[in-house]
Amino acid sequence: MPAPEIHSTASPTSIAATCALYNLTPTEFSELHTQAVAAKAAAYCPYSHFRVGCVLLTHAGAYIPGANVENASYPVTTCAERVAFGRAITSGHRGFKAVAVATDISPPASPCGMCRQCIREFCEPSVPVVMFDGSGGYSVMRLEELLPMSFGPEALGFPSQA
Ligand code: THU
Repeated sequence: MPAPEIHSTASPTSIAATCALYNLTPTEFSELHTQAVAAKAAAYCPYSHFRVGCVLLTHAGAYIPGANVENASYPVTTCAERVAFGRAITSGHRGFKAVAVATDISPPASPCGMCRQCIREFCEPSVPVVMFDGSGGYSVMRLEELLPMSFGPEALGFPSQA
């Protein structure tokens, strides 16, 4: 699959097109951007110094942030996306309209494989994942593009949690 196009967060035209395609309002897009970038500040990443911020938007209009939490035993690290989902789910939120991730690198980083699977547990395959880079750019892909032929609760006979 080719790399997704990188758009500018300074371009109202690009943002309008993105919002139309992914069923977001310009205000929701702006909040996803602001809050994903702000969430990076809470990262605990003394080993990698690689800050990741994440924010989840629910269909009810709530924004739930998360940031990566590292550990001296490296594999114990939890990514920003899974911190955000853990917070959201244990606070009773369900039904997610968008996932946004922000890092300081360009092109934008995309969620790791484990986080894609975590998103799969709680979101529709069509949920947009907005990826903000460190220099005013962003890309968007749907979960089903990031994680094709995915495995979810239905395969085990459980209802979708999305
Ligand atoms: N990281 C995330 O928070 N999300 C991802 O999807 C990829 C990686 C974090 C984990 C670790 O703290 C740092 O980025 C470097 O791998």
